[in-house]
Amino acid sequence: MPSNLLSTLSLLGILVAQSCGSPSHPSAFDRSHFSEADTITRDVAIIGGGSGGTYSAICLKDKGKSVLVIEKKGRLGGHTETYIDPATGIPIDIGVQIWHNVSVVTDYFKRFDIPLIVSGSDSNPNITISQGNYDFRTGQPVNVTSPSAAEVSAAFAAYAAQLEKYPELNNGMFLPNPVPEDLVLPFGKFVKKYHLEAAVRTMYQYNPGLGDILTGPTVEQMRVFGLSLVSQLSTGFLTTAHHNNSELYTKATAELLSTSSLLLNSTVTHSIRPSSNSSHSSPTNTTHPIQLLVSTPSGQKLILAKKLLITIPTRPELLTPFSLSPHESHIFSKLINAGYYTSILRTTGIPSTLSLSAAAPSTPYNIPALPGLYGIQPAPVPGLHIAYYGTPLSPSLYTASDAEVRANIIAGIKRVQAANPSVFNATEPEFVVYSSHAPFYLQARARDTQEGFYAEMYALQGERRTWWTGASWRAQDSSDIWRYTAGVVLPGVLEGL
Ligand SMILES: Cc1cc2nc3c(=O)[nH]c(=O)nc-3n(C[C@H](O)[C@H](O)[C@H](O)COP(=O)(O)OP(=O)(O)OC[C@H]3O[C@@H](n4cnc5c(N)ncnc54)[C@H](O)[C@@H]3O)c2cc1C
Ligand SMILES: *[C@@H]1O[C@H](CO)[C@@H](O)[C@H](O)[C@H]1NC(C)=O
Ligand SMILES: *[C@@H]1O[C@H](CO)[C@@H](O)[C@H](O)[C@H]1NC(C)=O
Ligand SMILES: *[C@@H]1O[C@H](CO)[C@@H](O)[C@H](O)[C@H]1NC(C)=O
Ligand SMILES: *[C@@H]1O[C@H](CO)[C@@H](O)[C@H](O)[C@H]1NC(C)=O
Ligand SMILES: *[C@@H]1O[C@H](CO)[C@@H](O)[C@H](O)[C@H]1NC(C)=O
Ligand SMILES: *[C@@H]1O[C@H](CO)[C@@H](O)[C@H](O)[C@H]1NC(C)=O
Ligand SMILES: *[C@@H]1O[C@H](CO)[C@@H](O)[C@H](O)[C@H]1NC(C)=O
Ligand SMILES: *[C@@H]1O[C@H](CO)[C@@H](O)[C@H](O)[C@H]1NC(C)=O
Repeated sequence: MPSNLLSTLSLLGILVAQSCGSPSHPSAFDRSHFSEADTITRDVAIIGGGSGGTYSAICLKDKGKSVLVIEKKGRLGGHTETYIDPATGIPIDIGVQIWHNVSVVTDYFKRFDIPLIVSGSDSNPNITISQGNYDFRTGQPVNVTSPSAAEVSAAFAAYAAQLEKYPELNNGMFLPNPVPEDLVLPFGKFVKKYHLEAAVRTMYQYNPGLGDILTGPTVEQMRVFGLSLVSQLSTGFLTTAHHNNSELYTKATAELLSTSSLLLNSTVTHSIRPSSNSSHSSPTNTTHPIQLLVSTPSGQKLILAKKLLITIPTRPELLTPFSLSPHESHIFSKLINAGYYTSILRTTGIPSTLSLSAAAPSTPYNIPALPGLYGIQPAPVPGLHIAYYGTPLSPSLYTASDAEVRANIIAGIKRVQAANPSVFNATEPEFVVYSSHAPFYLQARARDTQEGFYAEMYALQGERRTWWTGASWRAQDSSDIWRYTAGVVLPGVLEGL
């Protein structure tokens, strides 16, 4: 009998057993059920090949370790997405746009021979993009009271002075114990307390997808708007010279595939992880205590690894194949998240040099309520616009259906068209691409943070031969994810390998 049929049969056995609530049947992991080709032994198995997973794989490989990235999609990159306009060949980055000018970033791009420039430094001087503030709920233009440049920089200086009180926050969610009251204040109150009003709209615009920034705890703003990001506001961010950010991931894909270090379109279905650092619950192997059953386009594989590095969002619903302990489930179940969605549209009726920012007439800092559009910008291809949409923080994994988000984006554009016929044409906008990035911005509630949530979560690092990285652990910021991964996570992964 072919071995993959055998493994399919034993897998069916597992599925039945699991649906009755019993633990995975160890025989499914029996090596004799897998051919040599279907058994893969590596130092480190990495779950997810987005920003954090790809960076980790390349660094570990460069240290001479064998890795296997298991990525559920047919491509690496995660939130980095580039649409290539078929008519012109022009790339349009609709996910990750920019990085900090710090060595962890510049070294990584240099390694792949990908040139970086200061974002905006090569924009066409003959094209002037004008900007308008609109209330997408009514379609009306909004007069946003804008602080002067001097007021904005003074507010950021005052904010940076607050950040400097917590130097460890620059490296991860390392909060003082006990957690200072300021860090869990709703950010809107913190802004008033330290007179940061002039910085708020800039913060809101730099980090969409974070939920309502004024009611969320201050530490969640500091987490993504740390000292490194603040300093980039004056020096400039980096982007790829080719305006094709997926270049990084195409090159990484080629390198990882050529060394049998990547399984695309693949997911872990079951796993065995030791119950603690010292014990090995697997009776069959002690040097490779991590065992994963992986469903791939070429059948079921058995992965044996010394360590596991998980980089996907840590909501328990997404981690069921990893046999979470009650303690792990308890911690991750406290996380909430927002939804964030991007899309490219055509026939919007919006002038090709007009960028629309969402605003509300009578809210603090003119920040509109969520769910709603953050803004609609011209794409580098005339006639196309990129729309950004977000939902509030919620304990629900998917806070809106894609149909709902798409309908709301179109409705918002049509309201703006109808209310301003002298600026916009009345059209039927069409989606060229639509992409859901939910769940986005996993974070803890203020109360849990105050009770030591992040210390408890970080204490999971290295337990059960499992390490963790990605936005859930650091922030929705690739530069900071790479710095955290290199500085905090990989030294632990490498220990004893
Ligand atoms: C529209 C948008 C714009 C952004 N712009 C910027 C920016 O300009 N600069 C910046 O620094 N950051 C930006 N971000 C933040 C961005 O999310 C982070 O920079 C970074 O991509 C997060 O990395 P990650 O590894 O945590 O997640 P991801 O990059 O999303 O990687 C996770 C990967 O895991 C895979 N996966 C999920 N579940 C499974 C599973 N069960 N098994 C296997 N694989 C799985 C996913 O397919 C994905 O490839 C932006 C995000 C969005 C959505
Ligand atoms: C992944 O799956 C998609 C959809 O089935 C397919 O188009 C793509 O070719 C696959 N890629 C790989 C590398 O298997
Ligand atoms: C990054 O900053 C350094 C100075 O620290 C500067 O020399 C370099 O030109 C910057 N990189 C880019 C791409 O501009
Ligand atoms: C801008 O316009 C000038 C004058 O018409 C032209 O010489 C130049 O090439 C244009 N620049 C770009 C980047 O298109
Ligand atoms: C915006 O402000 C200008 C100048 O103060 C005023 O003329 C205009 O009517 C205002 N528009 C709205 C929509 O309030
Ligand atoms: C953009 O990058 C992708 C991935 O490297 C590549 O396939 C594509 O040809 C590039 N396109 C352009 C226009 O740079
Ligand atoms: C554990 O796995 C490694 C690598 O496949 C193998 O060399 C070793 O013999 C195994 N040990 C046991 C006890 O099966
Ligand atoms: C609006 O319609 C006019 C007339 O059909 C057309 O010339 C113009 O390009 C359109 N503008 C936009 C932004 O769709
Ligand atoms: C488990 O191992 C990790 C990594 O070596 C270490 O950080 C952690 O303290 C260990 N935990 C226990 C309970 O020994």
